[in-house]
Formats: sequence, structure tokens, C-alpha cells
Amino acid sequence: MTSTELAREALPQRLKRKIKHSLGPWGVFIEGFLRNPVMVGSIVPSSRFVINRMLGPVDWANCKLFVEYGPGVGTFCRPVLDRLGRDGHLIVIDTNPLFIDYLRRTITDSRFTAVLGSAADVEDIVRAHGHEKADYVLSGLPFSTLPDGVGPAIASATYRVIRKGGAFLVYQFTPKAREFMARHFKRIDSGMEAINVPPCFLFWGWKDED
Ligand SMILES: C[S@@+](CC[C@H](N)C(=O)[O-])C[C@H]1O[C@@H](n2cnc3c(N)ncnc32)[C@H](O)[C@@H]1O
Repeated sequence: MTSTELAREALPQRLKRKIKHSLGPWGVFIEGFLRNPVMVGSIVPSSRFVINRMLGPVDWANCKLFVEYGPGVGTFCRPVLDRLGRDGHLIVIDTNPLFIDYLRRTITDSRFTAVLGSAADVEDIVRAHGHEKADYVLSGLPFSTLPDGVGPAIASATYRVIRKGGAFLVYQFTPKAREFMARHFKRIDSGMEAINVPPCFLFWGWKDED
């Protein structure tokens, strides 16, 4: 934008752009929430305490494909890429074009792919990117506010796409997701992280058999 164009820009718009710019990823996240509160489900990204607890049990040496649902502005993406091996692949899937566009612009790691789509289509997405199975799937989806039938469909597609020995990692503000997970995953470890806004439930569903 040239300086003349800038001067002509209406004050409220200029102010809005400045505030958004100074907030960085938080500004993008809040905008995404305000545009679609039901699908985003939270106004604040996850804390580093949630990130470290959630990723703690992952066997990174044996992780070639890590999939994340609902990455938002990428709160988990950098920590996952930091832990993932050189030949690993991180595929993130989000229904919000604002977030996917932001992630594609800001994360340039060759191991990273951001897909605009629904987690319900994870099997097609994984296959389209040259993989048969995922080692781990992480979800920040607001399971309790998803449209009817979407939560169970995502849970069953996720179970099918994970390899034996892999896991479905879920963090959520309500224990609702556990109900969907329990229909498929026989072994589920649970936890709670208080240092987050709001405090959240953590679940690790292990796929012990094919
Ligand atoms: C609570 S936010 C997650 C924020 C982020 N992962 C974090 O830790 O801060 C939920 C995200 O799920 C996305 N979402 C909602 N329904 C979805 C679906 N069916 N498939 C993929 N993403 C979806 C929303 O667009 C939003 O980015």
C-alpha cells in the first residue's frame, strides 16, 4: 500500500488493521473466533502447558505422519515441527480459510502442509498426500459444539486412519470428546490442565489393534 493510499484509508479501518497487526497471531485468532464462534469454540489459543502435556507421550522417533485438526493460528504447529524428525510430515486441517491462509503464509517448513477442509475427510486427505496411515492425530476441535453427527464421524474416520500403536490426542474444555473416542479406542488415558483459559481436559486414545 502506498503512503497516499494509506492516508486515504478510513480511520476506523486503519485503527483495526493496526490493532490486528500489533496482536500478531492472537489478532488473527480473535478475528477467526468473532467470525465463527461456534466452529472455533475458544477466544484464546492453548497455553504452553497444554502443548507440553499433550505432546509428552508421543514417540517422535517412530512418527512419520502427524495430523492436526483445528490448528487455528498454529499454536501447536511449531512445537510439533520442533519435535518431528527430518523425514516427518505434519498435515493440519482446518475449515476456516482465514487460519489456513495465515498458516500457509507464516510456516514455510517443507515438512508442513495446511489443508482447507474438514477433519471428517481425514482419510482422503492423508491418501492425497501420499500416506496410508497417520501415526498420531491431534485434535483441538470443539466437539461439544460441532453440528450433529460430525463428532462421531470424525472419531470413526480418525480411528481408521491411525496405524496400530498410534494415538488420537484430544484437548477440550468439556469431557464430551471422550464419549466419541470411547466408541473406538479401548484404552484412553485422561488428564486435566489447569493453566489454560479455560482449564481443559486432555485425552490420549491408543490404538492397540487393527
Ligand atoms: C479451539 S480452536 C483450536 C485452536 C488451536 N488448536 C489452539 O490450540 O489454540 C478450534 C479449531 O477447529 C476448527 N474446526 C472446527 N470444525 C472443524 C472441522 N470439522 N474440521 C477441521 N477444523 C475444524 C476451527 O476453525 C478452529 O480453528
